[in-house]
Amino acid sequence: MAGLGRTAVVTGAGRGLGVALAQALRLDGYEVIAATRGAGLDLSRPETFAPFAATLGHRPLDLLVHNAAIRGDTGGLASLQVGDFEAVMRVNVLGPLLLTRALLANLRAGAGQVVMISSRAGSLAEGRSDEGDYAYKCSKAALNMAGLKLADETGLSVLALHPGWVQTDMGGPEADVPPEVSAQGLLAQIKTAPSGSFRAWDGVDIGW
Ligand SMILES: NC(=O)c1ccc[n+]([C@@H]2O[C@H](COP(=O)([O-])OP(=O)(O)OC[C@H]3O[C@@H](n4cnc5c(N)ncnc54)[C@H](OP(=O)(O)O)[C@@H]3O)[C@@H](O)[C@H]2O)c1
Repeated sequence: MAGLGRTAVVTGAGRGLGVALAQALRLDGYEVIAATRGAGLDLSRPETFAPFAATLGHRPLDLLVHNAAIRGDTGGLASLQVGDFEAVMRVNVLGPLLLTRALLANLRAGAGQVVMISSRAGSLAEGRSDEGDYAYKCSKAALNMAGLKLADETGLSVLALHPGWVQTDMGGPEADVPPEVSAQGLLAQIKTAPSGSFRAWDGVDIGW
């Protein structure tokens, strides 16, 4: 059976897109470890990463999906707050980087694919708008660079993927892509996109 024995870690797998992603990966044959705050992993608290990694021991890790994220203030320059901006960068960028480092030995022992759930909103080429949303957009642009840096330094396979406008708490009820549909599309990209790609869930390449 395809996929037998593969292990994936998915952050933010307690609700939203993370639940659908974990389910799609399970159906594809992965054993999925749901990295949630309830399970002790808080992306805003790097001190929780080593204890989380310890629960894996020497287990090879084939896929690490950095899905958890927060939006932060969506207003413009006038409403920008130090604490809010720092919180978004901490959860959306620094957390994934440090969690990857904490799991590096496991990744190297397995297929070692790292997936950044990014956003077209973080694309310098396609994500510009006159809305506010400074923290979130900057965080996803930084996450994209973090992914490329990781690929260059570690040799791991790293993708940045845009899930579409997804019907979750973050996406809201107006969103046009059900989480299960996005997750299926993301899984297809995880299987086929070459390392260093920035792609949408439907297979369309996104300009950095
Ligand atoms: N929805 C969209 O339209 C859309 C569009 C583009 C990109 N994305 C990206 O897709 C991913 C999933 O988004 P979503 O729509 O599912 O968002 P969501 O519904 O707001 O869910 C966010 C997830 O992140 C987790 N999380 C937040 N802060 C955390 C922390 N400090 N530590 C650990 N987990 C934390 C949440 O866990 P708790 O339950 O513990 O809070 C939750 O599981 C994100 O990276 C988002 O930026 C979404």
